[in-house]
Amino acid sequence: MVASSALADLPLPPGRRGLPLVGETVEWVRDPLRFAQERYARYGPVWRTHLLGQPCVVMLGAEANRFILSTHLHLFSSRQGWGRPITTLIGRGLSLIDGEEHRRHRCMIQPALHGALLQRYFATMQTLTHAHLRLWQQQAELRLFDAFKGLSFAIAARLMLGLEQPAAIAQVERDFYQFTAGLFALPAWRIPGTPYARAWRAGQRLRRALRRIIAARRQAAPQPDILSWLLTVEDEHGQRFSEAELLDELLVLLWAGHDTVTSMLTWAVLELARHPLIAARLQAELDAVLGRAPLQAPQLKRLPLLDAVLRETERLHPPAPGGFRGVVESFSYDGYRIPAGWTVMYSSVFTHHQPEIWSAPQCFDPDRFLPPRNEGRPFALVGFSAGPRVCVGLAFAQMQMRIVLAELLRTCRVELLPAQDLRPIPVPTAMPRDGLRVRIRPQL
Ligand code: HEM
Repeated sequence: MVASSALADLPLPPGRRGLPLVGETVEWVRDPLRFAQERYARYGPVWRTHLLGQPCVVMLGAEANRFILSTHLHLFSSRQGWGRPITTLIGRGLSLIDGEEHRRHRCMIQPALHGALLQRYFATMQTLTHAHLRLWQQQAELRLFDAFKGLSFAIAARLMLGLEQPAAIAQVERDFYQFTAGLFALPAWRIPGTPYARAWRAGQRLRRALRRIIAARRQAAPQPDILSWLLTVEDEHGQRFSEAELLDELLVLLWAGHDTVTSMLTWAVLELARHPLIAARLQAELDAVLGRAPLQAPQLKRLPLLDAVLRETERLHPPAPGGFRGVVESFSYDGYRIPAGWTVMYSSVFTHHQPEIWSAPQCFDPDRFLPPRNEGRPFALVGFSAGPRVCVGLAFAQMQMRIVLAELLRTCRVELLPAQDLRPIPVPTAMPRDGLRVRIRPQL
């Protein structure tokens, strides 16, 4: 870092603006990894571009991740990193706020997704997983991405909103999908018939439904779930969330905790199908630790290969390719001036493929995370981000993914159907193009 007088003399990073209005957004959306690798070869680890309507500096590598996500947080705004559609539709939920407001909300929300409360969600996650697995086995074929999405939504609707009845879940789910379909839709103008306008109307319906759910819960006995926690938790001044804060937080939790888990589960199943030897070892681990008895919560901590498979899936297929931050104060980095008002991007997908950090980074190789290799270094694996704003749902997501994969693999056979397009759609949430078409049958 240099003094502000000298800062003005530093050059901007190299790079180009791309096309009018869209800049280089199309190339980035098409293939975020190639986009970053090509420019890294041309310019090095710091360069400028124009993405999603903003001038943007991309900072690559584990040290850049540490700078953005941990040591220099005060230079950045998370809210200003997200586009206008999300901030206008979701309002001021946890990922869209900064500073003291963020600290207060995070302290209040975090206990609902960790420790003793998290352990109480195990039975619900497991029961819903069993119910969905039974349904999937009866279908001739299914798109696994959609199937995991339905299960993730059912888990979120039960634990975040207390919804159990299929009809009530289906109503909220319909509105929610229309709502999330507009979160990245530009322009963010309410022109009838556009995805943004539909998302806005769905958002209004969702907020009305959430108000009714909250009012009913206030009259009922508290339950061991996220909604009861958020309704009663107090900050250090004894203040609870206002209703407006609560609505925004519920929307952000439903959104952030849903497609991400769906994406990682889908890629994990696909990679296991492509690597039968690893799948067989995982099956043996599940048999040895779980036997034929029902899965118990403590056993989830004794499945090192399952964890390594999930980490390797996070590395090769991070649900989001990276993250954006708004620059609130100009600063220098690597000899360049990064101006206030621009955005910066850290690239998970780039760091996850760096040959300086990972051996044969393009290969699916879960053993890299097990002893004696233990590959990686701080801020190198950042699929859940890192630092003080690391994904607040990390432990929740890990528990859910471990349960779903363990139950799926020990009770079912998953057959991939032929003639399908498995190339990735990387943005906004990574998924195989055809959604991974499979047939699921009981394990003999
Ligand atoms: C595989 C599953 C998941 C992945 C890969 C994931 C990934 C991420 C990432 C990368 C961020 C940081 C985004 C940024 O840099 O701006 C984040 C933040 C966040 N995630 Fe997750 N997430 C997952 C599951 C969940 C779940 C299950 C929940 C809720 C139950 C959740 C709630 C959140 C929230 C609220 C934030 C904002 C945290 C803050 O700014 O303090 N996520 N997540």
